[in-house]
Amino acid sequence: MGGAARIVLLGPPGAGKGTQAQYLAARVGVPAISTGEMLRAAVAAGSELGRRVDGVMASGRLVDDALMAEVVRERVTQPDAGRGYLLDGYPRTLPQAETLSGILEDAGQALDAVLLIDVPEDELVRRALLRKREDDKEEVIRERLRVYREKTEPLIGYYRERGLLREIDGDCPVEEVTSRMYAALGVEGGV
Ligand code: AP5
Repeated sequence: MGGAARIVLLGPPGAGKGTQAQYLAARVGVPAISTGEMLRAAVAAGSELGRRVDGVMASGRLVDDALMAEVVRERVTQPDAGRGYLLDGYPRTLPQAETLSGILEDAGQALDAVLLIDVPEDELVRRALLRKREDDKEEVIRERLRVYREKTEPLIGYYRERGLLREIDGDCPVEEVTSRMYAALGVEGGV
């Protein structure tokens, strides 16, 4: 991929978005921006943002769209995102997709691609239980999956209609998923 690249990673919790974001961002030469990581860092630091989102995250629900809009607008306008970025975990609702579209439009930019990583539900739960993150208790994982189906899945149609969606079967080893993502983006190179 030459020049700037603005890419969204979409997929259910545990699909491997964070894992793949690291490889892909390094390959494409843009920062990986994970809203989940940013919020967890805020909670760990005990900042005002962290205090506002802690309980919501622990329950598996979503932080409200207006607050996320502030967080994301601030982050994608940092100098290191000038040549683009890989968004992991944003947008996750239709209003968030509209916010992102507005941010891009204000900057005279556009998305290049939305990569959907799909993995069966049993495998998602298996992976999350192995990881043991604070919000990886089985009932919270199930709630995050329920919220994904209700709030985030509609983005698949939203981005398909706009001709941006590329679907990747993520139910295979990490390196294989990475290769499939490179192929979907038309970028060359080994894993
Ligand atoms: P977030 O951190 O975004 O969590 P998530 O979407 O639930 O995603 P995960 O991190 O669980 O999964 P992932 O797809 O990144 O998979 P990973 O690579 O880690 O968000 C957390 C919370 O923050 C939300 O619930 C919400 O409260 C809040 N939040 C964040 N963004 C928000 C937003 N935009 N709006 C509102 N609220 C927001 O992999 C999972 C595990 O599987 C790892 O252990 C990994 O090693 C393993 N693995 C990965 N790939 C493979 C593979 N191919 N084979 C085997 N194992 C694999």
